[in-house]
Amino acid sequence: MSLPEQQAPVARVVHFDIFTLFPPMFSGPFAESIIRRAQERKLISISLHNIRDYTTDRHHVCDDLPYGGGGGMVMKPAPIFRAVETVLTRPVGWTLPLEDAYVNLPAWDEQAPAALPADTPIILLTPQGRQLNQTIVAELSAYPRLALLCGRYEGIDERVHTQLATDEISIGDYVLSGGELAAMVIVDAVTRLLPGALGYELGAAQDSHSPGLGGLLEGPQYTRPHLFRGEETPAVLLSGHHAQVKRWRHEQALLRTLLHRPDLLRHLPLSAADQTFLQQHGWLADIHYDPVSKQPGQL
Ligand code: ADE
Repeated sequence: MSLPEQQAPVARVVHFDIFTLFPPMFSGPFAESIIRRAQERKLISISLHNIRDYTTDRHHVCDDLPYGGGGGMVMKPAPIFRAVETVLTRPVGWTLPLEDAYVNLPAWDEQAPAALPADTPIILLTPQGRQLNQTIVAELSAYPRLALLCGRYEGIDERVHTQLATDEISIGDYVLSGGELAAMVIVDAVTRLLPGALGYELGAAQDSHSPGLGGLLEGPQYTRPHLFRGEETPAVLLSGHHAQVKRWRHEQALLRTLLHRPDLLRHLPLSAADQTFLQQHGWLADIHYDPVSKQPGQL
């Protein structure tokens, strides 16, 4: 089945500039599967920039003690500003030649902010950011270039928040040792949305949380064998009745969302029929569901 003309996806490519103290962390995940293929197909490109390369002191120090005392170290602003401003004022794909690290850096003005491109969000990965969801992923996938800034250690100088980052994103209410894993999550989720990245036509539109499923979780899936450990594939999936299969899948998506993430239902544009169906299965409309306990009424 081919998509109607007016819905045909527009070819899009996204370039990621990732700023990190640990570039080798990315080599495994970016060398496999969908992200590898997307790079080979030139749907995405990724440049890793080592923030430490942009230090000029003898020991290449990137962190320092916090003013006011307290535990832990804080990432210094200058190497981060220098790395980001140097890279983003140069053409897509530019990276600092290895031999120029520390010793032969392009000129940079520590006092005056560089004129950075307006169409490139500079995203700081931090547990304090807005929480990533599929809507934000779709929003990000529309940019030609994304800068992902990975914080490390116990913190990052506040001036990075106030003067450099244009967005702050968290991947969930838990603390990671740094933003690297969160940056990988963003690259993966954005890449899946680019036309041609998944290799099948409807692609990510049929994923959980996606518009194709109306924001619902995806229902159960089966493959051969028909019978496994006493559990049969539902007969409707073998029936060949496309309309019935479609209806069953939609109902299963509703039920699964009710069971696993009832908090999502309140924000979805549900049809009257969907609402009735859900109510018949115990959904209390207009009631707040806690996303963790899945129980109604607990804020
Ligand atoms: N860095 C540390 N924890 C993080 C989180 N939950 N999301 C994004 N970046 C982080």
